[in-house]
Amino acid sequence: MNSQLLRDTVKLLFADHKGLLAMDESNGTCNKRFEKLGIPRTVEARRAYRELIVTTPGLGESIGGAILYDETIRQQKSDGTTFVNVLIAAGIIPGIKVDTGAKELAGHPGEKVTEGLDGLRDRLQEYFQMGARFAKWRAVIAIGCGLPSWSCIEANAHALARYAALCQEAGLVPVVEPEVIMDGQHTLEQCCEVSGEVLRTVFSELFAQRVALEGIVLKPNMVLPGTACTVQPTVDEVADATVNCFLQSVPAAVPAIAFLSGGQPAELASARLNAMNVRFKSRLPWALAFSFARAIQQPALEIWNGRQTNVAAAQQALYHRARCNQAARRGEYSQEMETK
Ligand code: 13P
Repeated sequence: MNSQLLRDTVKLLFADHKGLLAMDESNGTCNKRFEKLGIPRTVEARRAYRELIVTTPGLGESIGGAILYDETIRQQKSDGTTFVNVLIAAGIIPGIKVDTGAKELAGHPGEKVTEGLDGLRDRLQEYFQMGARFAKWRAVIAIGCGLPSWSCIEANAHALARYAALCQEAGLVPVVEPEVIMDGQHTLEQCCEVSGEVLRTVFSELFAQRVALEGIVLKPNMVLPGTACTVQPTVDEVADATVNCFLQSVPAAVPAIAFLSGGQPAELASARLNAMNVRFKSRLPWALAFSFARAIQQPALEIWNGRQTNVAAAQQALYHRARCNQAARRGEYSQEMETK
C-alpha cells in the first residue's frame, strides 16, 4: 500500500477548505431526478448535464474532488475531451462510485446490503488507470420499528471495510459512506444512537481489515431526526448532536469527515455544516467538510431543465452552492451569501 499517495490525495481533496461534489448518481437515480423535471431520460441528456457540471467556470476554487459514475467516467465533452481530463485541468481530482447498489438483505424485510465486492480489485485497477484517485461505496441503514438489525449493520460494515482495503491496495482513497437515512418518524436521539452504533461497528471492521485510517475519508449522515418526526431541532442543536456523536465514535486518525446531504434543503445543509465549524472547529481532530450531491446540484438541475440556453445560469447556481459550502467549512457562511 502506498500510504504517502493516499495521504497526499486526502490533503489535496480538502485543501483551502474545499470539499467534494458527488455527481455519481446511477443511471436509475439520475433518470428519476430528470423525470420529475420532464428532462428526457437518455444517455445524451445525462452526458450534457454532466458536461454542464464539469465545465462550470471556477468550480475548482471550492471543489477538490468530483465523484463520477461508471457511465460518466467514460464520457466526453462535445469537443471530445474526456470528463476526467476536464476535471484534472480544473484542479479537481476525479473519483468513482464503485458499489453496485443497495439490494434487499435476505431474511431482513425493510433492510438493505450494498453489493459490488466481486471483481472489485480489477475494476479499481482500471479506474486508477483512467485517472481516478479516490472511490466511494454507500451503505444504507434505515431506522424503523425494530430496525436497524444488528445483522444489517454488521453486513454493511464488513462490506465497507473489504472495499476500503481493496481501494488502498489499488492506490485509491476510499470514501466510506454509511448512511443512516432520514426517512421515518425517529427522533434526533434515536438517530444519534443508531449513527454511533453504525460508526463504531464500521471502525471495528476497518481495523479488522487493516485499513489505514489516515488514508480514508468518512462520509456520514448528519445526526438528524426523521423527516416525519414532529420535533425538528435548531441548526445549533443538529451541530451539537452530530459532533458529540462523532467524538464518541470516530477515531482521531481519520483526516476528514465529508457529510452527505441526504435530501436536506441546500441552504440548511450549508447552515448546519457552518454551525459545526463555528462551534467546534478548533477542538476537533478531523476536518469537517462536505460531499454533497443534491445540496450542491439541485438548484442548478432545476434551472438547467434540459435546455442549452439555461447552461450558464445553472453553472452560476452550482458555483454559488459550492462557494457557500466552502464558506461553511471556514465557519463563514451566512444567510447574506444567499441573497447577494
Ligand atoms: P446527497 O448529498 O444527495 O445525499 O448524495 C450524496 C451521495 O453521494 C449519496 O451517496
